[in-house]
Amino acid sequence: MRRTIDWADGSIVVIDQTALPAEYRLLHLRTVGELVDAIKRLAVRGAPALGAAGALGVALAARTSDDVHADAELIATARPTAVNLAWGVERAMKKLRQGADAVLDEALALLAEDEELNKTASKHAAGIVLEECGTRPLRLLSHCNAGQLATVGWGSALGVVWHLHARGLVEEVLVDETRPLLQGARLTAWELAQANVPYRVQPDSAAAAAMARGMVDCVLVGADRIAANGDVANKIGTYALAIAAKHHGVPFVVVAPSSTVDSTLADGAGVAIEERDARELTAFAGVPITPPDATVFNPAFDVTPHDLITAVVTEHGRFEP
Ligand code: MRU
Repeated sequence: MRRTIDWADGSIVVIDQTALPAEYRLLHLRTVGELVDAIKRLAVRGAPALGAAGALGVALAARTSDDVHADAELIATARPTAVNLAWGVERAMKKLRQGADAVLDEALALLAEDEELNKTASKHAAGIVLEECGTRPLRLLSHCNAGQLATVGWGSALGVVWHLHARGLVEEVLVDETRPLLQGARLTAWELAQANVPYRVQPDSAAAAAMARGMVDCVLVGADRIAANGDVANKIGTYALAIAAKHHGVPFVVVAPSSTVDSTLADGAGVAIEERDARELTAFAGVPITPPDATVFNPAFDVTPHDLITAVVTEHGRFEP
């Protein structure tokens, strides 16, 4: 598969994640406004891919904008929770005084690193999963999408599946559909199908029941921000999964590149949690499903306390709080 996000002919090219799995199409983002819109609409999404978007966005601004600092701020704040977005912007901005080509080189270096770091992190995590579960074909549970589409390439939590599948050690992946935007049903299922990995999509609310029935050997998730004490912000529903996993004695493993660690935060209480548009809940595929004046609570992320997590794994191995 091509990179989820890349640079070509003076524009940022992304796989449009709002169109999958029905249609595989590319978006060519030629202005900072188009990039910010694509980030807000989740056409490009997932913490590591957002880091790449931040850096490439500064490269685009350095070529096209009268006020790169203002544009950098717009990009860095397009979504609040994944620390990678502002991290990618800051990393590219450090090269601004050396000129637009230096900024682009830095952004492209970040993209090349992303794939390598996620491969390494997920390889470490695969080893930890086998230590926890034993070396045998495993039944894994995935939430949201932490695959190739959430990164420049390869993936973090789903990267573990690729490593284990290559060794014949995946019996099945239970894919949480991941309400309300269905990153699991649409994107993770699509990636697993492409790679011929056996999977079943389940409603998020079936996860605890699957664990109670002994259908899950290990839960694998990515992260949007990891606090210094090991608390993890990730897609809404992750916290409930971790509670269920603890109750059933199922290992719960978080995989992310170290760019997702925010060591300025002592714990997860300080993570800014994005609240998204009510229409994501009041309608399904454009059809209203609530009374017209229904009000909603629609947080995109939650925080899982570190004591519910078996291991947080980066390219450096097990993360030590
Ligand atoms: O709202 P999204 O789709 O950007 O949320 C993404 C997630 O929560 C992922 O699990 C996380 O970014 C890790 S991706 C390797």
